[in-house]
Amino acid sequence: MSKWTDEWRNFINESSYKHVLKDRGWNDDQFWEGYPVYDEILSHIKYPGEILERIATLIAPGCNFLDIGAGTGAFAIPLARRTRKMIALDPSRSQLNRLQGKAAAEGIENIEILNSSWEDAACEDLGEIDYTLSAYSLFAEEAEGFLQKMVDVSRKGAFIVFRAGQVDPLSEFAYGPKASADYRCLQHILEDMGLDFEVELFARDYTLPLRLVFQQYRFSDRTPDDLTKFLKDRGRLIMGMPEPLALFRSEDALLYHLS
Ligand SMILES: C[S@@+](CC[C@H](N)C(=O)[O-])C[C@H]1O[C@@H](n2cnc3c(N)ncnc32)[C@H](O)[C@@H]1O
Repeated sequence: MSKWTDEWRNFINESSYKHVLKDRGWNDDQFWEGYPVYDEILSHIKYPGEILERIATLIAPGCNFLDIGAGTGAFAIPLARRTRKMIALDPSRSQLNRLQGKAAAEGIENIEILNSSWEDAACEDLGEIDYTLSAYSLFAEEAEGFLQKMVDVSRKGAFIVFRAGQVDPLSEFAYGPKASADYRCLQHILEDMGLDFEVELFARDYTLPLRLVFQQYRFSDRTPDDLTKFLKDRGRLIMGMPEPLALFRSEDALLYHLS
């Protein structure tokens, strides 16, 4: 085991997502069912934004695409317009229900739903896949198996979207110091597997209504007043109308390998 696989495992084990699942005995679906504001948050944070446009330029029109951990369809729905078939895989039924509702409202009919984790998905059920994508959905302690399976089923290319840049200090304030990993950890793991992925970075500056910040940090021991004070003291609070907003900067990495 390399230091990168250890770093990844520590990060996953200490992630707030895994902690919440473990501490409450929840499955993925229970977590996402209790987070109905996910799409409302996405509408403020300029995600997936430019990364989506970049992936759209890199795939061949009319391809078969598999979105692993598709969530509510941030990538799957717009990309389905360029693909012959889009498979949206996710272990959370409620996330997939939201995705299906949105796709139906947009008249998109080429999305197949697969309610499974990636680890449990049977490759023979997928048919021929040209491209795979995992955007913020790699929660496996053993990243290699997850990544190798992606590469093995992808005839033309694999895409990974993951955090770049610093962890927001608000996270550390909310949850305390924790092991973290960014895209470079995944890049090193891929290199150790003999896989060469290109990397492109994308920055997003945005504001988020304070009430949604409280939702994001709803499992923190900090009170809404604590979070508000932290943001205010750092000049990150705008008393906007009709509601207060907090300032954020996020950076995402797009890692991709095209055959
Ligand atoms: C942060 S959301 C990202 C959703 C979407 N990819 C996006 O970028 O908006 C993470 C998603 O990964 C899913 N997920 C969690 N564990 C997974 C696994 N082992 N295999 C596939 N998807 C998983 C979750 O259910 C959730 O919908």
